[in-house]
Amino acid sequence: MGTLVEPALLLLLWQSVWALDIPLEVRQPPTIIKQSMKEHIVDPKDTMVIECEAKGNPHPIFSWRRNGKYFNVARDSQASMRRRSGTLDIYAKNNPEQYEAEYQCIASNEYGSAYSNKIRLQLYRAPVWPREILEPVVVSAGLPLVLSCDPPPGPPKPETYWMSSSFPTMQAVRPDRRVSMGVNGDLYFSNVLINDSVADYCCNARFPYKNVIQQKMPVVVKVLTSEYYSVRPRTVAEAAPTWLSPTGSSSSILVLQGEELLLECIAAGMPTPRITWTKDGEDLAVTSRMKVKNFNKMIQIPKASFDDVGEYTCAATNRLGYIEHTITVKVKAAPFWLEKPTDLILAPEENGRLVCRSDGAPRPTISWSINGEPIETADPQPNRQVSGDTLIFRSVSASNTAVYQCNASNQFGYLLANAFVNVLHATPRILGPRNELTKVIEGSHALLDCRYFGSPVPELRW
Ligand SMILES: *[C@@H]1O[C@H](CO)[C@@H](O)[C@H](O)[C@H]1NC(C)=O
Ligand SMILES: *[C@@H]1O[C@H](CO)[C@@H](O)[C@H](O)[C@H]1NC(C)=O
Repeated sequence: MGTLVEPALLLLLWQSVWALDIPLEVRQPPTIIKQSMKEHIVDPKDTMVIECEAKGNPHPIFSWRRNGKYFNVARDSQASMRRRSGTLDIYAKNNPEQYEAEYQCIASNEYGSAYSNKIRLQLYRAPVWPREILEPVVVSAGLPLVLSCDPPPGPPKPETYWMSSSFPTMQAVRPDRRVSMGVNGDLYFSNVLINDSVADYCCNARFPYKNVIQQKMPVVVKVLTSEYYSVRPRTVAEAAPTWLSPTGSSSSILVLQGEELLLECIAAGMPTPRITWTKDGEDLAVTSRMKVKNFNKMIQIPKASFDDVGEYTCAATNRLGYIEHTITVKVKAAPFWLEKPTDLILAPEENGRLVCRSDGAPRPTISWSINGEPIETADPQPNRQVSGDTLIFRSVSASNTAVYQCNASNQFGYLLANAFVNVLHATPRILGPRNELTKVIEGSHALLDCRYFGSPVPELRW
């Protein structure tokens, strides 16, 4: 048989056929095809939906665990499971809080059980600030001022901004070198000016879920001028820089790879101090991955990477003095996939392997389960062996048919993969339409797709 397909390509085609196309007419263990996110926020006023769908032959039956224990959906009058699916509809008229828990869906048939991720259901809470009356803030001109925001925690985390009003208008506070909006939502004045007191100030929180905006009670700011200043109104007492955020001379930040890193340095002082940055003792090289914001008071790195590890020093300077603060940045990583295990169709006596390769910082540990049961406590099978991140099968028999789970975890998260081993004899067959007419353009590439199936893997000839 003459073939022009290179071995590597052949392998690729072979793998893609095997990874994707196990026709559902073939009896097979379940595969989960849809599930809710690991962190699932729902509004208790609506029907709360937790998704779980799976395929398999025979069609799987579904069950749920809640906080690790069997969840009897049939006995819960506020919950129901959709037909031929595991998806839960919960309509909680009474105490929805009881549903705030960790859910896991199990899809089973006679060949095995596939497990979903653990889905943490959190109720969306209408954000509210306490209806407190805030005392006016009285401060002398030239001194620093911090107005706290303390937005309701969520979930989800809100985005905050400040408005100021001087009757009858209300406008967004425009940050500048002197006035800063901190990462925590607070409003910082490096020093206050007389005209800062024309307004009252009000923190607003915008919640991305449902797009709700909540307003904190406004606070009135009064700036005092001493007699001395009224004699010489343009003069305000000068002051050397001091830190408003962060405080002290050092702090540290731990960020996960791929997440946002925000470095912030806000100083008090009169005149307003200038902020400069160095990294590991050298001028900070501003790369395209980072943005300098907030008049040099903030460095934003939307997706942190291991290159961002280091000591960042910010300095605040005015003509009366100079201070430094060093932020130590550490980058860690939740597990991520290098190679996910794929379903295996094997004929009796064949060998096979499931590979579960991941990385992270710290390096993830891998644990295997069989139909949800940890491999250490499952019935031992002499032809099955765990070797690092690989599960090896030698000379399989029908008793190896199961869904295998691998869980790669470190302290920052986990990845769960299900892959089945299906030991069977299946006569070769061609999948997809017969006698297909493919039109191609002269001089261009043509791809003739031939999907086929059989166990053991049939030999394919054109
Ligand atoms: C994976 O393992 C980690 C660490 O033991 C555990 O916290 C997590 O719940 C496991 N995930 C699943 C879906 O079993
Ligand atoms: C307040 O005074 C400062 C300096 O005198 C000036 O730059 C600023 O525009 C004034 N702000 C308002 C709202 O009038």
